[in-house]
Amino acid sequence: MNSLSDPLIRAELDRLQKEAALDGERWSARKAAQQAEPPVQNSGPDPLIRMGEFYLGVSAAEGRLLYNLARSSGSQTVVEFGASYGISTLFLGAAARDTGGRLVTTEVHPDKCRAIAELIQRAGLQDHVQLLEGDALETLKGVEGRVDMLFLDGWKSLYLPMLELMAPRLAPGALVAADNVDHEAAAPYVAAIAADTRFVTTSVGDMELSCFTG
Ligand SMILES: C[S@@+](CC[C@H](N)C(=O)[O-])C[C@H]1O[C@@H](n2cnc3c(N)ncnc32)[C@H](O)[C@@H]1O
Repeated sequence: MNSLSDPLIRAELDRLQKEAALDGERWSARKAAQQAEPPVQNSGPDPLIRMGEFYLGVSAAEGRLLYNLARSSGSQTVVEFGASYGISTLFLGAAARDTGGRLVTTEVHPDKCRAIAELIQRAGLQDHVQLLEGDALETLKGVEGRVDMLFLDGWKSLYLPMLELMAPRLAPGALVAADNVDHEAAAPYVAAIAADTRFVTTSVGDMELSCFTG
């Protein structure tokens, strides 16, 4: 038995994955609108708050990988940078429930935060998932205790500052999983973690997995 087969979580995952599959159409619509008129303002005054209409979620295979990594390591505290509409949050939240641990997730977009808060309730994960709303570089400063797994999936230019913030809190043997490391903006993170002898790093597709041995 695992929480990924819980009907409540399954139903939410199915719904989100169907909605996320329409991201391609949303890109086309945005591009067409930008060509017809000046760029559509899809952001708030805060440059971090953008892309609100896009799910940008992990694939089902990546989600199962995240579940397996968190579950098989018995992670008690998992931190997620960038929840969006919550696809990876469901996979990691299911693992947190199955290990008796907790997931601390983060999101800066207000609409997405509202959606995530409702999702956590509907999926029955409220005892295992905590959402921190706002810029994760600020909200995660208050996280207490050791972190067993860190999943990086927010804006790629913030991967390195996020690693620098969280490294002092990583438990020995903790895992850092960074998605979309092929993105140009993730290059400083990729270079820094490769050069840091405290980490042993390998790649699975465009996700980089680094074990903290320091
Ligand atoms: C690629 S999406 C995350 C997808 C999600 N992990 C999933 O698999 O469904 C990136 C998200 O990170 C959020 N984000 C970016 N920078 C952030 C920050 N500094 N603090 C909190 N959230 C941030 C964005 O608003 C966006 O929703």
